[in-house]
Amino acid sequence: AGCAGGDAGPGAGGDDDIVVGFAQVGAESGWRTANTKSIQGAFEEAGIELKFSDAQQKQENQIKAIRSYIQQQVDVIAFSPVVESGWDTVLKEAKDAGIPVVLTDRAVDSKDDSLYVSFLGSDFIEEGKKAGEWVVQEFADADSVKIVQLEGTTGAAPANDRAEGFADVIGADPKFEIVASQTGDFTRSGGKQVMEALLKSNPDVDLVYAHNDDMGLGAIEAIEAAGLVPGQDIKIVTVDAVKDGMQALADGKINFIVECSPLLGEQLVDIVRKVVAGEEVEKRIVTEETTFTQEQAVEALPDRQY
Ligand code: AHR
Repeated sequence: AGCAGGDAGPGAGGDDDIVVGFAQVGAESGWRTANTKSIQGAFEEAGIELKFSDAQQKQENQIKAIRSYIQQQVDVIAFSPVVESGWDTVLKEAKDAGIPVVLTDRAVDSKDDSLYVSFLGSDFIEEGKKAGEWVVQEFADADSVKIVQLEGTTGAAPANDRAEGFADVIGADPKFEIVASQTGDFTRSGGKQVMEALLKSNPDVDLVYAHNDDMGLGAIEAIEAAGLVPGQDIKIVTVDAVKDGMQALADGKINFIVECSPLLGEQLVDIVRKVVAGEEVEKRIVTEETTFTQEQAVEALPDRQY
């Protein structure tokens, strides 16, 4: 440490001098576990010290972790915000301390974009649109489509944006109706619980749109417990494409998955190196992603990394 603010000049020491503080959301999903592994692995490989904290999906824990990184005068703080709003005060504290902040995976809704140097992650609105486009195609011949939406963590960027992108696309045709929309907090148990309850009030639902694979996998359990066949009686579209999701897709229980890549570690190391060296970094780096049908999942599964 000791070269905070990106003013390390020539001879200021190599990567083994850099200290990074990372405030993770939690361990709510397979995606998150893969993301943590990618980040810890990349920093270890780079020989850069990484201080890591798990906020257990609570914003106050993340704020505490960030304040402790400021106190420890780390060189760079990176974090994936649990929710979008309420970050200005603590980000201002980091800025005043001369510590650059990198947002990974999720955005903040701050109006002052000088509070962070870069945002690396997916375009969640685009992901929601891709899910919606598949639904429009899949149900092209249907007269009416009843949809249950399993939302991610309330107030989280991927929950807000995936709902928005999806609604933008299906909203063009009134035959699509979201009959219920509730949060499952991005967890498998949350998805199962919500789906169990929603099936009781909406037994004739045609489609589940889950904001991540884990909630979709929970919904599958609830659908099967109700004596219905997931993927057939009720179609399912999810986001992420983690191994368990891809397996369910290959098995015909999920119908379509929009990819959201958790492999952000190497790119984050790159950004950190540049920031510490005082080089320019791009303000927004969008992750490259694809989509998977059932056939494509069968092909992709053997080489899937996470
Ligand atoms: O922010 C990314 C989202 O968070 C993933 O889609 C979800 O699985 C995770 O919990």
